[in-house]
Amino acid sequence: MILKEAKKLYIETLGCAMNVRDSEHIIAELGDKENYVLCDNVLDADLILINTCSVREKPVSKLFSEIGKYNKRKKEGAKIGVCGCTASHLGDEIFKRAPYVSFVIGARNVSKIAEAVNTPRFLSVDTDYDESTYAFGEFRNSLYKAYVNISIGCDKKCTYCIVPQTRGDELSIPPELIINEAKKAAQSGAKEIFLLGQNVNNYGKRFSQKRTDMIDFPDLLNQISEIKGVERIRFTSPHPLHMDDKFLETFANNPKICKSMHMPLQSGSTHILEQMKRGYTKEWFLNRALKLRAMVPDVSISTDVIVAFPGESDADFEDTLDVMRQVKFEQVFAFKYSARPLTKAAEFENQIDPEIGSQRLEKLQLMQDDILDEISCAHQDKIYPVYIEELRNSGFLAGRSDNNALVQIKGDESLLGQVVNVKITNPKRLALYGEVVL
Ligand code: 5AD
Ligand code: SF4
Repeated sequence: MILKEAKKLYIETLGCAMNVRDSEHIIAELGDKENYVLCDNVLDADLILINTCSVREKPVSKLFSEIGKYNKRKKEGAKIGVCGCTASHLGDEIFKRAPYVSFVIGARNVSKIAEAVNTPRFLSVDTDYDESTYAFGEFRNSLYKAYVNISIGCDKKCTYCIVPQTRGDELSIPPELIINEAKKAAQSGAKEIFLLGQNVNNYGKRFSQKRTDMIDFPDLLNQISEIKGVERIRFTSPHPLHMDDKFLETFANNPKICKSMHMPLQSGSTHILEQMKRGYTKEWFLNRALKLRAMVPDVSISTDVIVAFPGESDADFEDTLDVMRQVKFEQVFAFKYSARPLTKAAEFENQIDPEIGSQRLEKLQLMQDDILDEISCAHQDKIYPVYIEELRNSGFLAGRSDNNALVQIKGDESLLGQVVNVKITNPKRLALYGEVVL
């Protein structure tokens, strides 16, 4: 028997954790069905894939210059494919602007990757396609942390957001498939399960096939926490609107759930939240965040904020700063509003001068830096259990505390995959440095 030599796959992943998991699925499918192995040098690749993000304009405009460069450098005969959210919303236009691209598959069509590589000019960007029961092969970037999807798509129609157009309507993945995935990951050594979906705490509202049992996100969290070998559970992204008491209580009381919560604020102004169609007010957000702090004193809360959304006045922006001062988020991802095609807000008339957006972003970031200095000082001499996941080029081992702080220590590979107690000796804004204590 002549064994066929493996083909080489180079994959670049942009965007969110959902895309990271989609890339893992693509790698598994191409490995199982088409004999591809990963390579890290684009010049060696037989297939170059870009898994794209379209949430803001910048990465989209970068896409064409990026694939243009790949096309010049690639090995003779190598193919280039575009997947993910930008593939979904640009579709056929990608072939027109970059005729050397071999196939385009959207964020909800990842399971068609093996067909795509074998079909010239394959295009599949259907957002109705149902991948909610699709079982992918096994591939994970990390031995220690396993991403597990719990839903696909998004039903919220936030007026700034392109995601419902790229990933389609929300469908929950059947719980038995999720539990099975988590069990497999735990058996192969992952102590941490990281659940993924656009609105994870809306889980269980709609499945592709009718079910007689009822299950919601807190129930799912509890079931996963009972799996042998699972020590830590994280999830992203919950929606503030669905942070009801049952959800907060499960989060607070289940010891396996890591005490870090992402609460995407977007704006602190009730008026702007209405324009964004977020479904909650400034008061609701503050009530939930402060209740969470009271229930879980060592919780770490991160957020996403958009500045200069159409019509945002100085007073609206002040409301955002006010929420930030009251909640004191441990991490803030702040973005200047970017008008996206196929969204309602792109058509609003009161668009804001981008220069004002830049000034607001800067002011917000300076204020957050002061908050972070205060927060990081409070870690001095504290001892945290840290799950060591990575040996960095800097020689430091890196891991996350239960409440998601990045902790770095000196040590050797033998600590990888271990949970160790670390005393923080040098807290910085972006990472806490410390040493192992017994
Ligand atoms: N402009 C700026 N930021 C955006 N986000 C989503 N859409 C836009 C947009 N049009 C941000 C939101 C979201 C994060 C993933 O990206 O804050 O939570
Ligand atoms: Fe993820 Fe949204 Fe970017 Fe798609 S557009 S990759 S869902 S962040």
